[in-house]
Amino acid sequence: MREEIRSVLSGAESIFGVRERVGQWRDAKETIALVPTMGNLHEGHLSLIRLASQHARRVICSIFVNPTQFGGGEDYTSYPRTLQEDKKKLGAQGLVDLLFCPSERDIYPLGAETSVEIKVPGLSSELCGATRPGHFSGVASVVCRFLNITTPDTLLLGEKDYQQLLVLTRMIEDLKFPVTVVSAPILRESDGLAMSSRNRYLEVRQRKLAPRLHVELEQIQKALRKGASDYHLLESEALRSLKKVGFRPEYVEVRRASDLAKPNGKARRNELVVLAAAWLGKARLIDNVRA
Ligand code: PAJ
Repeated sequence: MREEIRSVLSGAESIFGVRERVGQWRDAKETIALVPTMGNLHEGHLSLIRLASQHARRVICSIFVNPTQFGGGEDYTSYPRTLQEDKKKLGAQGLVDLLFCPSERDIYPLGAETSVEIKVPGLSSELCGATRPGHFSGVASVVCRFLNITTPDTLLLGEKDYQQLLVLTRMIEDLKFPVTVVSAPILRESDGLAMSSRNRYLEVRQRKLAPRLHVELEQIQKALRKGASDYHLLESEALRSLKKVGFRPEYVEVRRASDLAKPNGKARRNELVVLAAAWLGKARLIDNVRA
């Protein structure tokens, strides 16, 4: 195992540098996997890197806090930027060949406001898209650029951001990128809370309460497994109990896993996913479970 990151490319020459490196790997007929992140790496991110190394000979990790996916008033400026610690974690893992940390100018030379935007209609306005308009365009726009720069064979995405996974898969299919999406299961803390860079916004008392979001999803999962089919009732019970203990839920929804459409009563259980977003203090938590 390589107990280091082979190379770190950031700043003005980084896109050229990545292309050069990728070209050498291609000449040597080596396969490439990309793990895009916004940094502040935790075990969830590291699990994606491990999976990437099982799918390709070369692993590229990107760290870029993407301005276009944050709405006005969201946490773009306060989003944790911990590059030195991230490098240490990646170095200790020893699986990353190239760490790509471009600047905003590298990715959006025309400025974030006037750059080309990728829209994935329909899917992007559901669920998280309803309260975060423009968020998924920002995600699609940046991942499209990363795919063009790194030309990977495999793209690793976490199921934690389930809607993001579907939006990006649709973009890739529709724009015919020659890349295979591999999704990774959600990594959780020992009390069930899904790992997230935003968990650090939780105060001690809120952190104790936070796993309750997953508990509510598991309760719906259990009910669905027993044959319950009144989704609306299950959703509203979960919303009520989350509010009662101090969350400000945005949604709890049973949806069709393939396209996030609202399921009709005839949907088979294994076709469903239960998703939620809820605020707790300053943290917006998201989670999901497959029925
Ligand atoms: P970020 O939140 O840093 O997440 C990077 C990747 O890690 C995503 O694919 C996400 O689903 C995955 N991930 C996060 N928490 C996880 C967990 N607990 N278990 C497993 N995987 C987890 O998602 C983004 O960044 C950005 O939107 C990005 C795709 C990089 C575009 O800017």
